[in-house]
Amino acid sequence: MHHSTNLILPSLLAADWSKIDLEVRRASAAGAQWLHLDVMDGNFVDNISFGPQMVQTVRKCTDMYLDVHLMIHRPDHYLERFIKAGAQNITIHVEANYDTSVAETLKRIRAAGLHCGLALHPSTPFEAALPFVRDIDLLLVMTVVPGFGGQPFMEKETMPKLAAARDYRAAHGLNYHLEVDGGIYTSTAPIAKKNGANLFVCGTSSFGPPDMEQSMRELAASVA
Ligand code: DX5
Ligand code: ZN
Repeated sequence: MHHSTNLILPSLLAADWSKIDLEVRRASAAGAQWLHLDVMDGNFVDNISFGPQMVQTVRKCTDMYLDVHLMIHRPDHYLERFIKAGAQNITIHVEANYDTSVAETLKRIRAAGLHCGLALHPSTPFEAALPFVRDIDLLLVMTVVPGFGGQPFMEKETMPKLAAARDYRAAHGLNYHLEVDGGIYTSTAPIAKKNGANLFVCGTSSFGPPDMEQSMRELAASVA
């Protein structure tokens, strides 16, 4: 898939976990091709969500592409479990602690036949990603401080960085997708699109409304 393709990715964090199976099918029926899964360790971020077992559970419910966002320290230590669980993309944070290194972890993800992503906290400059941009399939520009759904979109702090990542990609003939995550609604998705995003992670705005098919359609229309 080329980075000119726009996708709306529902984030499982905003689903009703009392009926995960139905929620995953609801997302798929609503037209989602990729599902975003937020793994939080209560250490890298101030919240705890779920781990590889949930990824495996979701894998059993769907053949959607699973985009796993690891908001955890030592992602290299836990990597194998998420690969086995059935992730198709694994995104790691450049700010996390590693037993090995960011480069080594990205290499291991690709060696396992998966796509790999690198995520930037809102306060981390694009330059922190520069040593790795030739070795990633996607760059995730966090548009909220990671840890919780339902936070407001940090336009001023993150859009210049997104545009810089887009311009760098064009200037150097690179191909990474640009993903935004946090506070994405029909009002903010077009701003992110204008600055280069093509993968739009939507939690509250996708699973929130009762008619998910309609919310997905409206989100897609806002970036068409
Ligand atoms: C935030 C997570 C997001 C979250 C987005 O730490 O990485 O994926 O689910 O939620 P909304 O769309 O509600 O801001
Ligand atoms: Zn996320």
